Amino acid sequence: KGEPLVNFTWWHISPAILMMWAPLGFRLTCYYYRKAYYRAFFWDPPACAVGELHGGYVGERKFPFILQNMHRYFLYLAIIVWGFLTYDAIRAFFFPSGFGMGVGTLVLVVNSALLGLYTFSCHSLRHRVGGCMDCPSKSKSRLKLWQIVSSLNARHPTFAWCSLVWVAFSDLYIRLVATGAITDLRLF
Ligand code: FES
Repeated sequence: KGEPLVNFTWWHISPAILMMWAPLGFRLTCYYYRKAYYRAFFWDPPACAVGELHGGYVGERKFPFILQNMHRYFLYLAIIVWGFLTYDAIRAFFFPSGFGMGVGTLVLVVNSALLGLYTFSCHSLRHRVGGCMDCPSKSKSRLKLWQIVSSLNARHPTFAWCSLVWVAFSDLYIRLVATGAITDLRLF
């Protein structure tokens, strides 16, 4: 809705492709997704109490898997991306005719909420805000933050899948509205 912040006249496909590497890197290096795709595609580990299939197993200490350690930096980028998406969701309440709400507004608000839950339930964030403290009771605010992130963290897998599906749906919905294939229903 409204004019885009930046006008990409030199780029003829979706500008989202220019910054997709940041959320993609965040998902690929996510501890939960790593567990899922290591087990599903590499059979690593094959099962509980079953020995390693691969000789010379070095975990994530060698290239390319050592790059998984960049997860914390992808987290910082993901928080910035989430900030932009939240700004977009707020802007979706403002129509040329004034304040209102359409189905698209709801789609963007749910998108921001699910991505926020996924991002702020991250294992790295949990460690960043309080997991690294030797004595949590020395900082009440960090302890509180750690408790909040920990309670979200218990549902991290659910947030991971829900946000992934909703991001795809939101992109499709916005694309269909932008190309005129469907009309965004105005609720009020
Ligand atoms: Fe999943 Fe950080 S562990 S996003």
